Amino acid sequence: MNAQNLLLILASIVGTSFAQLKAHGNRLGLQIGAASNGWGDGAQFAIPAYAYRLNTEYNVQVAENECKMTNIRPNQATYDFSDCDRAYNLSRNAGADFRFHAAIWYNDLPTWFTALNAANQRSAIISHITTVMNYYKGKIDVYDIVNEALADAWDSNGGVMWRQEPLYQNNPDFVELSLRTARAVNPSARLFYNDYSNHFSYWGQSRNQLNLIDYLQSRDVPLDGVGFQCHVDVAQPITKQTVIDAFAPYVARGLEVQITELDVACPATCNLNRQAEVYLAFLQACVETPRCTSFVMWGVTDAITWLPTLQPNIFSGTIVNGNYTEKPAYTAMLNYLAGLQSIPARQYNTHAPGAVTNTATSTTSGTVTNSATSTTTATVTNSATGTRKKVQKRSVRKG
Ligand code: XIL
Repeated sequence: MNAQNLLLILASIVGTSFAQLKAHGNRLGLQIGAASNGWGDGAQFAIPAYAYRLNTEYNVQVAENECKMTNIRPNQATYDFSDCDRAYNLSRNAGADFRFHAAIWYNDLPTWFTALNAANQRSAIISHITTVMNYYKGKIDVYDIVNEALADAWDSNGGVMWRQEPLYQNNPDFVELSLRTARAVNPSARLFYNDYSNHFSYWGQSRNQLNLIDYLQSRDVPLDGVGFQCHVDVAQPITKQTVIDAFAPYVARGLEVQITELDVACPATCNLNRQAEVYLAFLQACVETPRCTSFVMWGVTDAITWLPTLQPNIFSGTIVNGNYTEKPAYTAMLNYLAGLQSIPARQYNTHAPGAVTNTATSTTSGTVTNSATSTTTATVTNSATGTRKKVQKRSVRKG
C-alpha cells in the first residue's frame, strides 16, 4: 500500500477528509455530484483514491456509460442490469442519489435495435423504457429519458430542427412517445430531456431546444426538466450571468434545470485559474437559481475522463488531477460553498402518483403494451446474477 492510499484510509476512519463538497451540498440542500465510470469490469472502482473520492465528495452520482441501452441490452430478449446496478449500488452505499442516464440516445443504440424496422423500433422503445423504469421504480427518481434528439442547429428556423438520424426518421414522434411511456410507467418519476450547447441562451442550439420544449408543451407531453450537459472549454466567455440567462427561458416554461455533465476542457498549457472561474460560474448560477436541482460533473479525475478521446491534448477537464490532487477549480467551489450559510430552497417538480393520464399513441386503456418484445418474457439480469461484459469502444463526438 502506498502512502497516499494509507492516508486516504486513515482520513476516512478518523473522519477528517476533504469530503467537503458533499458535506456542503448536504448542509445547503444542493445536489453536487459526478459521473462514475466502472465501465467494463468495474476495475476503476477498486482504485482506492478513485473509490474514496466517489464515496466522500458527492451526494449524487450518475453512471457515465453503464445504464445506456447498449450496455443494458446485449440482445433484444435480454435486460442485463448488472453494470448499471453496480454503479447504482456504489452511489447508494455512499448515501448519494443516483440519476439515470440515458434511456434513448441515437448514439448508443445496440445493433439489434438499429436493424429493426420502424414499427418494431417503436415497440422496442416502449419496452425498453417500460422495463427499465419498472426495474428502478422506488430507487431512482430522475431519468434522462431522451438524449440529444436535435440537430446541431447554429440557427433555428423557428421550428424544431431534429437530428436526422434513423431513430427520428423511423419514428418522428419518438421523443413524445418516450416521455409519455415513461410517465405512464412511473408517474412520480421526474423526466428529463438532456442535450448540449444550451448553456448560451443566444446559441441556435438553445433556441432549437426551446422550440422543442414549446412543441412538447403545446401537446401536453410530460416533461419535468432539461439537462444542460455543459461540455465546455476555458475559451468560452462563460460567466455566472450567462449561465443564469441560459437557464431563464427553461425556468420560465415551468421546468427544472440541471447541470448534468460539466467538464471544462483545457489545453496542455492549461490556465487552471480560468478553469476554476468557469466551474465556479456554473456552480454559482445553479445555487442562485432555485429551479437548478442538480450540479453534476462528468468524471471524478483527469485519470479517468472521456476528454482525451475527443482531442488528444485535452486532458485537464475535471477538478482533480490524474494523481488525485485537487485543482484550483475544486478549491474555488469548496471555498464558495463554505462561505454560504444557506441557499434558496430547491424547487422540484412533484407528481401525485396516478394523477397523470397516459395518452401515449401506442397504448390502449392507459396501459403501455408492447406487441413485439413482451417485457414479461424478456430475461432480466440483476447484479446478483449478472455476468460482466467486455469493454466496448464507442464512437464519441464533442458534446
Ligand atoms: C460519453 C462517455 O463519456 C464516453 O465514455 C463514451 O465513449 C461515449 O459517451 N453526452 C452524453 C454522454 O450525454 O452520455 C456522453 O458520454 C458524452 C456526451
